[in-house]
Amino acid sequence: MAILVTGGAGYIGSHMVLSLLVNGYDVIVIDNLSNSSRESVRRVEQIAKKSVVFYDGDIRDRDFLDSVFGRHEVSEVLHFAGLKSVGESVLEPLKYYDNNVSGTLALCEAMNTAGVRRLVFSSSATVYGDPASMPIHEGVPTGQPTNPYGRSKLMVEEVLKDLAAADSQWSIALLRYFNPVGAHVSGKIGEDPFGIPNNLVPFISQVVVGRREALTIYGNDYPTPDGTGVRDYIHVEDLVEGHVLAMRAISRKPGVHVWNLGTGRGYSVLDMIETFKKVTGKDVPYVIAGRRDGDVAECWADPSKALDELGWKAGHCLSDMVEDTWRWQKNNPNGYS
Ligand code: NAD
Ligand code: WQD
Repeated sequence: MAILVTGGAGYIGSHMVLSLLVNGYDVIVIDNLSNSSRESVRRVEQIAKKSVVFYDGDIRDRDFLDSVFGRHEVSEVLHFAGLKSVGESVLEPLKYYDNNVSGTLALCEAMNTAGVRRLVFSSSATVYGDPASMPIHEGVPTGQPTNPYGRSKLMVEEVLKDLAAADSQWSIALLRYFNPVGAHVSGKIGEDPFGIPNNLVPFISQVVVGRREALTIYGNDYPTPDGTGVRDYIHVEDLVEGHVLAMRAISRKPGVHVWNLGTGRGYSVLDMIETFKKVTGKDVPYVIAGRRDGDVAECWADPSKALDELGWKAGHCLSDMVEDTWRWQKNNPNGYS
Protein backbone atom coordinates (compact mmCIF):
# COMPACT_ATOMS: atom_id res chain seq x y z
CA MET A 1 0.00 0.00 0.00
CA ALA A 2 1.20 3.50 -0.81
CA ILE A 3 0.30 7.01 0.22
CA LEU A 4 -0.72 9.40 -2.53
CA VAL A 5 0.48 12.98 -2.03
CA THR A 6 -1.09 15.59 -4.30
CA GLY A 7 1.02 18.73 -4.61
CA GLY A 8 4.02 16.73 -3.38
CA ALA A 9 6.54 18.86 -5.31
CA GLY A 10 5.43 22.03 -3.52
CA TYR A 11 6.82 23.63 -0.39
CA ILE A 12 4.90 21.72 2.29
CA GLY A 13 4.27 18.65 0.12
CA SER A 14 8.00 18.06 -0.49
CA HIS A 15 8.72 18.13 3.24
CA MET A 16 5.78 15.76 3.75
CA VAL A 17 7.08 13.32 1.15
CA LEU A 18 10.50 13.30 2.78
CA SER A 19 9.01 12.61 6.19
CA LEU A 20 6.88 9.76 4.81
CA LEU A 21 9.87 8.16 3.09
CA VAL A 22 11.91 8.41 6.29
CA ASN A 23 9.00 6.85 8.21
CA GLY A 24 9.09 3.87 5.83
CA TYR A 25 6.03 4.61 3.68
CA ASP A 26 5.85 4.12 -0.09
CA VAL A 27 4.86 7.39 -1.75
CA ILE A 28 3.20 8.41 -5.00
CA VAL A 29 3.25 12.10 -5.95
CA ILE A 30 0.90 13.90 -8.31
CA ASP A 31 1.87 17.47 -9.17
CA ASN A 32 1.29 19.58 -12.27
CA LEU A 33 4.34 21.72 -11.37
CA SER A 34 2.27 24.90 -11.75
CA ASN A 35 3.98 26.36 -8.68
CA SER A 36 6.94 24.06 -8.10
CA SER A 37 9.90 22.36 -9.60
CA ARG A 38 10.63 18.69 -10.35
CA GLU A 39 13.98 19.33 -8.66
CA SER A 40 12.36 19.41 -5.20
CA VAL A 41 11.31 15.78 -5.54
CA ARG A 42 14.76 14.78 -6.81
CA ARG A 43 16.32 16.35 -3.73
CA VAL A 44 13.85 14.63 -1.43
CA GLU A 45 14.85 11.33 -3.01
CA GLN A 46 18.54 12.15 -2.53
CA ILE A 47 18.09 12.99 1.15
CA ALA A 48 15.90 9.94 1.86
CA LYS A 49 17.95 7.62 -0.41
CA LYS A 50 14.63 6.26 -1.56
CA SER A 51 12.56 6.96 -4.64
CA VAL A 52 8.96 8.04 -5.14
CA VAL A 53 6.63 7.42 -8.05
CA PHE A 54 6.13 10.85 -9.63
CA TYR A 55 3.27 11.82 -11.97
CA ASP A 56 3.31 15.18 -13.71
CA GLY A 57 -0.47 15.56 -13.91
CA ASP A 58 -3.47 17.60 -12.86
CA ILE A 59 -5.93 16.64 -10.12
CA ARG A 60 -8.79 18.05 -12.22
CA ASP A 61 -8.16 15.33 -14.82
CA ARG A 62 -10.44 12.41 -13.83
CA ASP A 63 -9.09 9.99 -16.45
CA PHE A 64 -5.57 10.64 -15.28
CA LEU A 65 -6.56 10.16 -11.64
CA ASP A 66 -8.39 6.93 -12.44
CA SER A 67 -5.30 5.61 -14.20
CA VAL A 68 -3.13 6.40 -11.18
CA PHE A 69 -5.54 4.71 -8.76
CA GLY A 70 -5.80 1.79 -11.21
CA ARG A 71 -2.05 1.29 -11.19
CA HIS A 72 -1.39 1.51 -7.44
CA GLU A 73 -2.83 0.26 -4.17
CA VAL A 74 -3.41 3.52 -2.29
CA SER A 75 -4.30 3.51 1.42
CA GLU A 76 -4.82 7.25 1.89
CA VAL A 77 -4.43 10.59 0.18
CA LEU A 78 -2.66 13.65 1.58
CA HIS A 79 -4.07 16.50 -0.46
CA PHE A 80 -1.80 19.55 -0.75
CA ALA A 81 -2.41 20.44 -4.42
CA GLY A 82 -3.94 23.88 -4.74
CA LEU A 83 -3.27 27.47 -5.63
CA LYS A 84 -2.48 29.71 -2.66
CA SER A 85 -1.87 33.30 -3.69
CA VAL A 86 -4.43 35.55 -2.01
CA GLY A 87 -3.86 38.49 -4.37
CA GLU A 88 -4.05 36.36 -7.50
CA SER A 89 -7.27 34.78 -6.24
CA VAL A 90 -8.90 38.24 -6.10
CA LEU A 91 -7.90 38.92 -9.73
CA GLU A 92 -8.68 35.43 -11.06
CA PRO A 93 -11.35 33.91 -8.82
CA LEU A 94 -12.52 31.31 -11.36
CA LYS A 95 -9.01 29.91 -11.62
CA TYR A 96 -9.01 29.41 -7.84
CA TYR A 97 -12.46 27.85 -7.58
CA ASP A 98 -11.69 25.59 -10.54
CA ASN A 99 -8.33 24.46 -9.25
CA ASN A 100 -9.03 24.22 -5.53
CA VAL A 101 -12.71 23.28 -5.44
CA SER A 102 -13.24 21.40 -8.74
CA GLY A 103 -9.83 19.75 -8.30
CA THR A 104 -10.85 18.42 -4.91
CA LEU A 105 -14.23 17.21 -6.25
CA ALA A 106 -12.47 15.28 -9.02
CA LEU A 107 -10.04 13.82 -6.51
CA CYS A 108 -12.83 12.67 -4.16
CA GLU A 109 -14.78 11.13 -7.05
CA ALA A 110 -11.71 9.22 -8.19
CA MET A 111 -11.04 8.11 -4.60
CA ASN A 112 -14.64 6.90 -4.24
CA THR A 113 -14.40 4.92 -7.45
CA ALA A 114 -11.14 3.36 -6.28
CA GLY A 115 -12.53 2.63 -2.80
CA VAL A 116 -9.97 4.89 -1.09
CA ARG A 117 -11.75 6.94 1.56
CA ARG A 118 -9.07 8.34 3.84
CA LEU A 119 -8.13 11.92 3.14
CA VAL A 120 -6.04 14.58 4.86
CA PHE A 121 -6.82 18.05 3.52
CA SER A 122 -4.59 21.16 3.72
CA SER A 123 -6.96 23.76 5.08
CA SER A 124 -6.02 27.09 6.54
CA ALA A 125 -6.60 29.38 9.49
CA THR A 126 -7.99 31.75 6.88
CA VAL A 127 -11.35 29.89 7.25
CA TYR A 128 -11.78 31.58 10.64
CA GLY A 129 -11.93 35.02 9.01
CA ASP A 130 -11.33 37.70 11.63
CA PRO A 131 -12.44 36.22 14.98
CA ALA A 132 -13.25 38.49 17.90
CA SER A 133 -10.68 37.01 20.27
CA MET A 134 -7.45 35.01 20.36
CA PRO A 135 -6.35 32.25 20.50
CA ILE A 136 -8.52 30.46 17.95
CA HIS A 137 -9.98 27.14 18.98
CA GLU A 138 -11.56 24.73 16.45
CA GLY A 139 -14.92 25.41 18.13
CA VAL A 140 -14.82 29.04 16.97
CA PRO A 141 -17.29 29.22 14.07
CA THR A 142 -15.69 29.61 10.68
CA GLY A 143 -15.94 33.25 9.69
CA GLN A 144 -16.01 35.02 6.40
CA PRO A 145 -12.69 34.68 4.60
CA THR A 146 -11.83 37.95 2.92
CA ASN A 147 -10.80 36.58 -0.48
CA PRO A 148 -11.59 33.83 -3.04
CA TYR A 149 -8.58 31.73 -1.95
CA GLY A 150 -9.91 31.60 1.61
CA ARG A 151 -13.44 30.92 0.41
CA SER A 152 -12.19 28.05 -1.75
CA LYS A 153 -10.70 26.44 1.38
CA LEU A 154 -13.93 26.93 3.33
CA MET A 155 -16.01 25.52 0.44
CA VAL A 156 -13.84 22.42 0.28
CA GLU A 157 -14.21 21.94 4.04
CA GLU A 158 -18.01 22.08 3.65
CA VAL A 159 -17.95 19.64 0.72
CA LEU A 160 -15.84 17.18 2.70
CA LYS A 161 -18.15 17.44 5.72
CA ASP A 162 -21.15 16.66 3.49
CA LEU A 163 -19.31 13.76 1.94
CA ALA A 164 -18.50 12.18 5.31
CA ALA A 165 -22.07 12.79 6.51
CA ALA A 166 -23.45 10.98 3.46
CA ASP A 167 -21.06 8.01 3.59
CA SER A 168 -19.65 6.76 6.89
CA GLN A 169 -16.81 4.96 5.12
CA TRP A 170 -14.97 8.27 4.74
CA SER A 171 -12.35 9.38 7.28
CA ILE A 172 -11.22 12.94 6.74
CA ALA A 173 -8.85 15.30 8.53
CA LEU A 174 -9.22 19.02 7.95
CA LEU A 175 -5.90 20.48 9.07
CA ARG A 176 -6.04 24.21 9.56
CA TYR A 177 -2.50 25.50 9.18
CA PHE A 178 -1.46 28.78 10.70
CA ASN A 179 1.69 30.25 9.07
CA PRO A 180 4.06 27.52 7.85
CA VAL A 181 7.71 28.61 7.58
CA GLY A 182 11.17 27.04 7.88
CA ALA A 183 12.83 24.28 5.91
CA HIS A 184 14.34 20.84 6.30
CA VAL A 185 17.53 20.91 8.38
CA SER A 186 19.61 19.67 5.42
CA GLY A 187 19.18 23.05 3.70
CA LYS A 188 18.43 21.16 0.47
CA ILE A 189 14.68 21.73 0.25
CA GLY A 190 12.63 24.77 1.20
CA GLU A 191 10.15 27.37 0.07
CA ASP A 192 10.82 28.68 -3.43
CA PRO A 193 7.97 30.95 -4.49
CA PHE A 194 7.66 31.86 -8.17
CA GLY A 195 7.91 35.63 -8.66
CA ILE A 196 7.67 38.16 -5.83
CA PRO A 197 6.93 36.40 -2.53
CA ASN A 198 3.57 37.25 -0.98
CA ASN A 199 4.45 35.93 2.44
CA LEU A 200 6.62 37.56 5.05
CA VAL A 201 9.32 34.96 5.68
CA PRO A 202 10.29 34.17 2.08
CA PHE A 203 10.30 37.92 1.39
CA ILE A 204 12.64 38.70 4.29
CA SER A 205 14.98 35.86 3.40
CA GLN A 206 15.21 37.12 -0.20
CA VAL A 207 16.05 40.59 1.16
CA VAL A 208 18.76 39.17 3.39
CA VAL A 209 20.26 37.09 0.57
CA GLY A 210 20.37 40.21 -1.63
CA ARG A 211 17.65 39.38 -4.15
CA ARG A 212 15.39 42.23 -2.99
CA GLU A 213 16.19 45.68 -1.65
CA ALA A 214 13.87 46.10 1.31
CA LEU A 215 10.85 44.63 3.01
CA THR A 216 7.62 46.61 2.94
CA ILE A 217 5.87 46.34 6.30
CA TYR A 218 2.14 46.44 5.73
CA GLY A 219 0.98 48.66 8.57
CA ASN A 220 2.42 49.62 11.97
CA ASP A 221 -0.82 50.97 13.39
CA TYR A 222 -2.54 47.72 14.36
CA PRO A 223 -3.78 47.28 17.95
CA THR A 224 -0.85 44.91 18.68
CA PRO A 225 2.10 45.43 21.09
CA ASP A 226 4.35 47.03 18.43
CA GLY A 227 1.68 48.00 15.87
CA THR A 228 2.64 45.36 13.27
CA GLY A 229 0.64 42.23 12.41
CA VAL A 230 0.96 39.22 14.70
CA ARG A 231 0.91 35.63 13.39
CA ASP A 232 1.44 32.07 14.60
CA TYR A 233 4.47 30.88 12.61
CA ILE A 234 4.91 27.13 12.60
CA HIS A 235 7.92 25.12 11.44
CA VAL A 236 7.11 23.03 8.36
CA GLU A 237 8.70 20.00 10.06
CA ASP A 238 6.25 20.28 12.96
CA LEU A 239 3.45 20.67 10.45
CA VAL A 240 4.31 17.47 8.58
CA GLU A 241 4.64 15.58 11.87
CA GLY A 242 1.04 16.67 12.57
CA HIS A 243 0.00 15.11 9.25
CA VAL A 244 1.58 11.76 10.08
CA LEU A 245 -0.29 11.70 13.41
CA ALA A 246 -3.56 12.86 11.83
CA MET A 247 -3.25 10.22 9.13
CA ARG A 248 -2.81 7.51 11.74
CA ALA A 249 -5.70 8.87 13.83
CA ILE A 250 -8.21 8.89 10.97
CA SER A 251 -7.31 5.31 10.06
CA ARG A 252 -8.84 4.40 13.45
CA LYS A 253 -11.70 6.95 13.49
CA PRO A 254 -14.10 7.54 10.59
CA GLY A 255 -15.87 10.87 10.14
CA VAL A 256 -14.51 14.38 9.84
CA HIS A 257 -11.92 15.72 12.27
CA VAL A 258 -10.70 19.28 12.47
CA TRP A 259 -7.33 20.15 13.97
CA ASN A 260 -5.49 23.44 14.20
CA LEU A 261 -1.78 23.17 13.48
CA GLY A 262 -0.10 26.13 15.11
CA THR A 263 2.26 26.76 18.02
CA GLY A 264 -0.13 28.81 20.15
CA ARG A 265 2.29 31.80 20.14
CA GLY A 266 2.08 34.95 18.09
CA TYR A 267 5.01 37.01 16.79
CA SER A 268 4.92 40.39 15.10
CA VAL A 269 6.56 41.45 11.84
CA LEU A 270 9.17 43.36 13.87
CA ASP A 271 9.84 40.27 16.04
CA MET A 272 10.50 38.34 12.83
CA ILE A 273 12.88 41.01 11.53
CA GLU A 274 14.80 41.01 14.84
CA THR A 275 15.09 37.22 14.76
CA PHE A 276 16.43 37.30 11.19
CA LYS A 277 19.00 39.92 12.20
CA LYS A 278 20.16 37.84 15.15
CA VAL A 279 20.35 34.56 13.24
CA THR A 280 21.98 35.88 10.06
CA GLY A 281 24.08 38.74 11.48
CA LYS A 282 22.76 40.86 8.60
CA ASP A 283 20.57 43.92 8.41
CA VAL A 284 16.96 43.74 7.20
CA PRO A 285 16.16 47.07 5.53
CA TYR A 286 12.46 47.90 5.58
CA VAL A 287 9.94 50.61 4.80
CA ILE A 288 6.58 51.12 6.44
CA ALA A 289 3.51 51.25 4.19
CA GLY A 290 -0.24 51.15 4.70
CA ARG A 291 -2.15 48.04 5.70
CA ARG A 292 -2.59 45.28 3.10
CA ASP A 293 -6.22 44.69 2.07
CA GLY A 294 -7.80 41.76 3.87
CA ASP A 295 -5.08 41.44 6.56
CA VAL A 296 -6.12 40.83 10.16
CA ALA A 297 -4.28 42.41 13.10
CA GLU A 298 -3.50 39.15 14.82
CA CYS A 299 -4.04 35.45 14.46
CA TRP A 300 -2.79 32.60 16.60
CA ALA A 301 -3.96 29.12 17.41
CA ASP A 302 -5.19 27.26 20.39
CA PRO A 303 -3.50 23.97 19.45
CA SER A 304 -4.74 22.01 22.51
CA LYS A 305 -7.15 19.79 20.54
CA ALA A 306 -4.29 18.39 18.47
CA LEU A 307 -2.34 17.77 21.68
CA ASP A 308 -5.26 15.98 23.36
CA GLU A 309 -6.36 13.91 20.38
CA LEU A 310 -3.15 13.37 18.40
CA GLY A 311 -0.43 13.87 21.01
CA TRP A 312 0.97 16.56 18.70
CA LYS A 313 2.75 19.70 19.81
CA ALA A 314 5.00 22.00 17.81
CA GLY A 315 8.60 21.64 18.99
CA HIS A 316 10.51 24.33 17.08
CA CYS A 317 10.91 27.91 18.29
CA LEU A 318 11.10 31.03 16.11
CA SER A 319 14.93 30.97 16.00
CA ASP A 320 14.86 27.37 14.69
CA MET A 321 12.40 28.41 12.00
CA VAL A 322 14.58 31.32 10.90
CA GLU A 323 17.85 29.33 11.11
CA ASP A 324 16.45 26.59 8.90
CA THR A 325 14.92 29.09 6.45
CA TRP A 326 18.23 30.89 6.25
CA ARG A 327 20.28 27.70 5.68
CA TRP A 328 18.04 26.84 2.72
CA GLN A 329 18.11 30.39 1.28
CA LYS A 330 21.88 30.86 1.75
CA ASN A 331 22.67 27.53 0.09
CA ASN A 332 20.12 28.14 -2.69
CA PRO A 333 19.98 31.90 -3.31
CA ASN A 334 17.92 31.30 -6.45
CA GLY A 335 15.84 28.47 -5.06
CA TYR A 336 15.73 25.36 -7.24
CA SER A 337 16.65 27.16 -10.45
P1 NAD B 1 2.81 25.18 -3.04
O1 NAD B 1 2.27 26.04 -4.10
O2 NAD B 1 4.28 25.19 -2.79
O3 NAD B 1 2.36 23.65 -3.28
C1 NAD B 1 1.17 23.31 -3.92
C2 NAD B 1 1.53 22.32 -5.03
O4 NAD B 1 0.34 21.91 -5.71
C3 NAD B 1 2.47 22.91 -6.09
O5 NAD B 1 3.56 22.04 -6.27
C4 NAD B 1 1.61 22.99 -7.35
O6 NAD B 1 2.37 22.81 -8.50
C5 NAD B 1 0.61 21.87 -7.10
N1 NAD B 1 -0.67 22.03 -7.78
C6 NAD B 1 -1.48 23.12 -7.79
N2 NAD B 1 -2.59 22.88 -8.49
C7 NAD B 1 -2.51 21.60 -8.92
C8 NAD B 1 -3.35 20.77 -9.71
N3 NAD B 1 -4.51 21.23 -10.19
N4 NAD B 1 -2.96 19.51 -9.96
C9 NAD B 1 -1.78 19.06 -9.50
N5 NAD B 1 -0.94 19.79 -8.75
C10 NAD B 1 -1.30 21.05 -8.49
O7 NAD B 1 2.03 25.52 -1.70
P2 NAD B 1 2.28 25.04 -0.20
O8 NAD B 1 2.68 26.22 0.60
O9 NAD B 1 3.13 23.83 -0.18
O10 NAD B 1 0.79 24.69 0.21
C11 NAD B 1 0.28 23.37 0.17
C12 NAD B 1 -1.18 23.40 0.56
O11 NAD B 1 -1.32 23.95 1.86
C13 NAD B 1 -2.05 24.26 -0.36
O12 NAD B 1 -3.29 23.61 -0.54
C14 NAD B 1 -2.24 25.54 0.42
O13 NAD B 1 -3.43 26.20 0.09
C15 NAD B 1 -2.26 25.02 1.85
N6 NAD B 1 -1.87 26.02 2.83
C16 NAD B 1 -0.66 26.66 2.67
C17 NAD B 1 -0.29 27.63 3.60
C18 NAD B 1 1.01 28.38 3.44
O14 NAD B 1 1.12 29.48 4.00
N7 NAD B 1 2.01 27.85 2.73
C19 NAD B 1 -1.13 27.94 4.68
C20 NAD B 1 -2.34 27.25 4.81
C21 NAD B 1 -2.70 26.29 3.87
C1 WQD C 1 2.30 37.78 7.76
C2 WQD C 1 2.39 39.19 8.34
C3 WQD C 1 1.51 40.88 6.87
C4 WQD C 1 4.47 40.33 3.69
C5 WQD C 1 -1.32 34.48 4.22
C6 WQD C 1 -2.66 34.08 3.66
C7 WQD C 1 -3.21 32.92 4.42
C8 WQD C 1 -2.20 31.77 4.55
C9 WQD C 1 -0.82 32.23 4.87
C10 WQD C 1 -2.67 29.94 3.13
C11 WQD C 1 1.15 40.05 8.10
C12 WQD C 1 2.99 41.06 7.06
C13 WQD C 1 3.75 40.22 4.87
C14 WQD C 1 5.19 41.52 3.44
C15 WQD C 1 4.46 42.38 5.56
N1 WQD C 1 -2.04 31.03 3.36
N2 WQD C 1 3.75 41.22 5.79
N3 WQD C 1 5.17 42.49 4.41
O1 WQD C 1 -1.18 37.23 5.81
O2 WQD C 1 -1.00 35.67 7.78
O3 WQD C 1 -1.48 34.77 5.59
O4 WQD C 1 -0.44 33.35 4.10
O5 WQD C 1 -3.67 29.52 3.57
O6 WQD C 1 -4.36 32.53 3.74
O7 WQD C 1 -3.55 35.18 3.79
O8 WQD C 1 0.79 35.65 6.05
O9 WQD C 1 3.20 35.84 5.55
O10 WQD C 1 1.54 37.05 4.07
O11 WQD C 1 1.92 37.86 6.39
O12 WQD C 1 4.45 43.27 6.38
O13 WQD C 1 5.84 41.68 2.40
O14 WQD C 1 3.47 39.88 7.65
O15 WQD C 1 0.85 42.11 6.80
O16 WQD C 1 0.99 40.87 9.21
P1 WQD C 1 -0.76 35.93 6.34
P2 WQD C 1 1.91 36.57 5.43
